[in-house]
Amino acid sequence: MAPSTEPQIDELTAAVLRTFEGNADARYKEIMSAVVRHLHALVKEVDLKPEEWMAAIQFITRVGQTCSAQRQECILLSDTLGVSMLVVGLEQARRSKQALADPALREMPTEATVQGPFYWEGSPVLSAGSDIGQGLPGEPAYYSGTVSDTHGQAIANACLDVWSGDGEGVYDMQRGGEVGMRLRARFHTDDQGRYRFWSIKPTYYPIPMDGPVGDMINKMGRHPNRPGHIHAMVYAECYVPVTTHLFPSDSPFLDSDVVFGVRNSLVVPWEKHPPGTAPDGRVMDRAYHTARYDFHLARAA
Ligand code: BEZ
Ligand code: FE
Repeated sequence: MAPSTEPQIDELTAAVLRTFEGNADARYKEIMSAVVRHLHALVKEVDLKPEEWMAAIQFITRVGQTCSAQRQECILLSDTLGVSMLVVGLEQARRSKQALADPALREMPTEATVQGPFYWEGSPVLSAGSDIGQGLPGEPAYYSGTVSDTHGQAIANACLDVWSGDGEGVYDMQRGGEVGMRLRARFHTDDQGRYRFWSIKPTYYPIPMDGPVGDMINKMGRHPNRPGHIHAMVYAECYVPVTTHLFPSDSPFLDSDVVFGVRNSLVVPWEKHPPGTAPDGRVMDRAYHTARYDFHLARAA
């Protein structure tokens, strides 16, 4: 009689796990063992068929092949499956725990969210009050606020590296190589921790849908949109940096961001004003918005 295949299937997970026993890197062993256990459990739970596993392999292959210097489909996959925000959230919880243990705590550190695929290192360093949205599609918006630490102390010379899509929801990187950097810059706080600059009010937009992740989103029956947001990476020497967004409180899709990146503490009003004199004295001949946000950084250990 042919031997039953059952014991071999049950034995397989343990057999793979045993191959990690000699691994010296304890964390690597912990992570890879969990990968194997969960992957095997998934295959058994859905009783995966060979053609389905082959389709999955072809999908992962296409995700890799879609990556280039300008495009990171692996991050997009992680973002749309909620893994990126899970990792961000776990780190945030660790930071919050540290912050709450500080008897001098006055402000919680600003919440982080996904970095997304459109960060471009080395944007221009501009002086306070510069306009990075001039001549580009979108309604003008004046951004201001402060960067301080969790004790309420102003941080001078903190860097705010900001970037966003334009008023049509399109990033410079998506407009083709010849366009160069747009709607992104680095600003530094003054000696009272204040920052200010002009840009546009960001609108909602779909994530790149012309690749395998787009096919997956369509197949899942999900919408592809992110609510409007401006990205900010805020950092200063001796402080823990934060990569985050600000979301206009009237944006569509705040409750169904395709990458799960919205945090209530990052949703703020963009107040609309008629033409006239803006808070920095600039005379505006068309309607504009103002958005204010105070960032808080934790001290590095
Ligand atoms: C974005 O913020 O632009 C973004 C973030 C995650 C995935 C796709 C786009
Ligand atoms: Fe974005």
